[in-house]
Amino acid sequence: MNETLGITEALEVAIKEICEACGNDRTRMVDIVRAVQDRFGCVPSQAMDLIAREVGTHRVEVESVVSFYAFLSKTPKGKIVIRLCNGIIDKMHGCRRVANAFSAALGINFGQTTPDGAISLEYTPCIGMCDQAPAALVNDVVVTHLSSDSAWEITRNLKKHLDPRRLVHNLGGGNNAHELVQAMVANNIRKVGPVILAEMSPGEAIGKAVAMSPAEVIRYVKTARLRGRGGAGFPTGMKWEFTRAAPGEERYVLCNADEGEPGTFKDRVILTERPDLLFEGMAIAGYAIGSSKGVVYLRGEYAYLRRFLEHVLAEHRSKGLLGDNVCGKQGFNFDIRIQMGAGSYICGEETALISSCEGLRGDPKNRPPFPARKGYLGMPTTVNNVETFCCVARILEKGPGWFAQFGSKGSPGTKLLSVAGDCMSPGVYELPFGIQLREVLRLAGAADAIAVQVGGPSGQMVAPGEFHRTICYDDLATGGSIMVFGPDRHVLAVAAEFMDFFIEESCGYCTPCRVGNVLLKQRLEQIIQGKGEPADLDYLQQLGETVKTTSRCGLGQTSPNPILSTLKNFRPAYEALVTEQEEAFQPSFDVQAALSESREITGRRSVLFDA
Ligand SMILES: Cc1cc2nc3c(=O)[nH]c(=O)nc-3n(C[C@H](O)[C@H](O)[C@H](O)COP(=O)(O)O)c2cc1C
Ligand code: SF4
Repeated sequence: MNETLGITEALEVAIKEICEACGNDRTRMVDIVRAVQDRFGCVPSQAMDLIAREVGTHRVEVESVVSFYAFLSKTPKGKIVIRLCNGIIDKMHGCRRVANAFSAALGINFGQTTPDGAISLEYTPCIGMCDQAPAALVNDVVVTHLSSDSAWEITRNLKKHLDPRRLVHNLGGGNNAHELVQAMVANNIRKVGPVILAEMSPGEAIGKAVAMSPAEVIRYVKTARLRGRGGAGFPTGMKWEFTRAAPGEERYVLCNADEGEPGTFKDRVILTERPDLLFEGMAIAGYAIGSSKGVVYLRGEYAYLRRFLEHVLAEHRSKGLLGDNVCGKQGFNFDIRIQMGAGSYICGEETALISSCEGLRGDPKNRPPFPARKGYLGMPTTVNNVETFCCVARILEKGPGWFAQFGSKGSPGTKLLSVAGDCMSPGVYELPFGIQLREVLRLAGAADAIAVQVGGPSGQMVAPGEFHRTICYDDLATGGSIMVFGPDRHVLAVAAEFMDFFIEESCGYCTPCRVGNVLLKQRLEQIIQGKGEPADLDYLQQLGETVKTTSRCGLGQTSPNPILSTLKNFRPAYEALVTEQEEAFQPSFDVQAALSESREITGRRSVLFDA
C-alpha cells in the first residue's frame, strides 16, 4: 500500500465510515475487516491500528482476527482472487490439470499474484460444489465443471475485463437464476422428499406456532423426536428447553450455515431453494426459547447467496413474518441478520461459530458452559443446523406425528444427503432415515464403489461388506456428506488427504490436535511409500485414540477417524504395504520409486488421483 499522506487520509476516512456502519462495535470485527478487505484488497497494518482505535480495542485483537481467516489478508492480493477448490472430489475430477492450466495461463504459481497486481491464484478446501467439481471461486463468483480449456478461457476473460461476473454464461436452475444470485451453480436435486424439498405454504408454520404457547411448541418438537441435522444428532427440543430455562437478559438463535464438512453441499441447496422454510424455522425457535434475535452464520464461500437471502428476509419483514409482533402475536418480536464467515472450517463447530459471530478468531471455547447456558455474547443461545430449522417448520405445519412417520425409530424424518465422487448422478437426495447405504449408492449410480466415506473426513470409511448398513444416528451418522470411491482409488491415499485437511484446519490451540495429526499423517505417508512395518499399525491406532480422547473440541476428537476407520474396515490395504523390518525391510529401498518405471510402462496411475 502506498504510504503517502493522501492515501493514509483516504484510508482513515474509509475506516471511520466502515466502523461507523457497524456501530463501532467490536463484536462486529469480522464484518469490519471483511469490508476493509473488500475495499482495499487487504487489511493493511495502518488499517488495523485505525480499526482498533475506532472500536476501542487493542490492535493485537484486530490482527489476530485478520490472521485467522483464510479469506483475509494483511498483504495486498490481486483485484481478482481465484480460489481453486482442492478438495478430494475435485482432485478426483481433474483439479490438478485445471491448476496447471491456470498457472500456465497466468504465468504464476499458486500463492502468487500477477506482476501487475491484477490476479492472485490460491487453493481453498471444499467450497461445497463437489457435485459439479472441479470448481473455483473467482472473488465471490462460483465457476464449476472446470477443465484446462475453461481455465484458459477464464483467464483470457479476466485479463480483458477484470470482472468475474462476466464468467457466468449459463445460469443454474431454480433460484440460481434469480436476478440477485445469477450463478452457474446447479442444484442437482435428484430426489425430492416430503419434508425439506416438498412445496411449502409460507407463513403457515409460524402462524401455528404463535397460536400455541412456547412450551407447547417445544413439546411438539420433542414429540417429533427431532435430532439436529448438523452431524451430532442432539435432540432439538431438549436443546431449546435448556436454552429457554437458562437465565439471561436476551437469548439468541444461531443458524449454522457454515457447511464446511468436505463433501457436504445440501445446505447450499436449502439456502437457494427453501430460505422461507429456514427463516420460519428460526422464528419458531425464537418464539420457543424467548429470543428476539437470530443470526445466520453464512460461510464465506456462499457469499454469492447473500443478496438473495437479504431480499428474502426483507420479504419476510414486509409480510409480518419477521419484525415486531410477528404474525400478529403481540409482544413477539424477532428479526434475523446474516453474519458472513471468512474461510474457516473450525467455525462450523458451534462454540467457534459463536466466537466468530462475536468478532473474534474462530477459536472453540471450553465446554461447559454449553451455549444453551452461556453462548453468543454470554447469553443463552441455541445453535442449529440449516436443515434442523427447516424440519422444525414442517413439524409445526404438519404435526409431530406426520413427521415421525418417516425415517427410523431412533431417527425420525428424512435426511438430505450430498452424494458425490465416483457415481453417475451426484447431487442432493432427500431420503428417509434408515435407508441402506447400498440403496443410496444404487440411486446415485455408484455400482462399483469400493469404499464410501460417510459423514465427511470426520466420519467413517465404509467397505462394500458393510453397504447393508443404514443411514441414521444409531448406525451410519452423517451431517449429509457421502463420498463415493471407485476401483481406481486407494483408501489410504484418501485417508492421507483427509489428514492433510485436518492439519490445515486445526486452530492449533491444543497439542494433541496440533501435533498428533501431523505425526499420524507422517506415519501413514511412510506406510503408503512402502516404508512401514506392522508395528506402525499399532502406533497409528494408539496415537489416533490418544488424539481423540485428549483434544479439546470436536475437530481433534474426530480428526484421526480417517486413519482409525480405514484401519478397522480396510486393514488388508495397510497389511499389504507393511513389511516386517528384520526380514524384508531395507531402509534404503524405496518401493514406490522402484515401481514408478513399471507404472510408466503400464500407464497405471501412482496412487489415487489424476496427477
Ligand atoms: C469441526 C466441526 C465442524 C462443524 N461444522 C458444522 C457445520 O458446518 N454445520 C453444522 O450445522 N454443524 C457443524 N458442526 C456441528 C456443530 O458444532 C453443532 O453441533 C451443530 O451446529 C448443532 O446443530 P444441530 O443440533 O441442529 O445439528 C461442526 C462440528 C465440528 C466439531
Ligand atoms: S482440538 Fe484442534 S481445532 Fe479443537 S481446539 Fe484443539 S487444536 Fe483447536
